[in-house]
Amino acid sequence: MDINELLEHAKEARKYAYAPYSKYKVGAAVLACGKVFKGCNIENASYGLTVCAERVAIFNAVSHGCRDIEAIAIYAEKMPYPCGACLQVMSEFCDESCMVLISDGKRVEKYELRELLPKKFEALKAND
Ligand code: THU
Repeated sequence: MDINELLEHAKEARKYAYAPYSKYKVGAAVLACGKVFKGCNIENASYGLTVCAERVAIFNAVSHGCRDIEAIAIYAEKMPYPCGACLQVMSEFCDESCMVLISDGKRVEKYELRELLPKKFEALKAND
């Protein structure tokens, strides 16, 4: 899929952002299993319960059985560099070379996940 197409999906997802507290609306679109899964940020009166657009999109893909994320596009008015929590969640389902596209509608920046998160937290697995 073309980069601009995935960004269009992220822009579309932003329309559903629920951000009455920060007023900062974010949309995200994930490419996995050859399909696009979208998400927007969803805030809460209890601010800490807010979930970022990236995590909503990723959990949307995973909850549809698609765990291998190839690319993620993020769209907002101000360049939406993903927060640390979202990078860690991306690292669970994306390779280090996963493409991360960021746009504010004026310009597009393209990264590999490894550039934004050089070291990820890894927990012990049962056989470690
Ligand atoms: N937000 C995201 O959607 N993604 C990020 O990576 C960081 C922040 C949202 C959460 C909240 O609704 C608003 O932006 C302001 O922090």
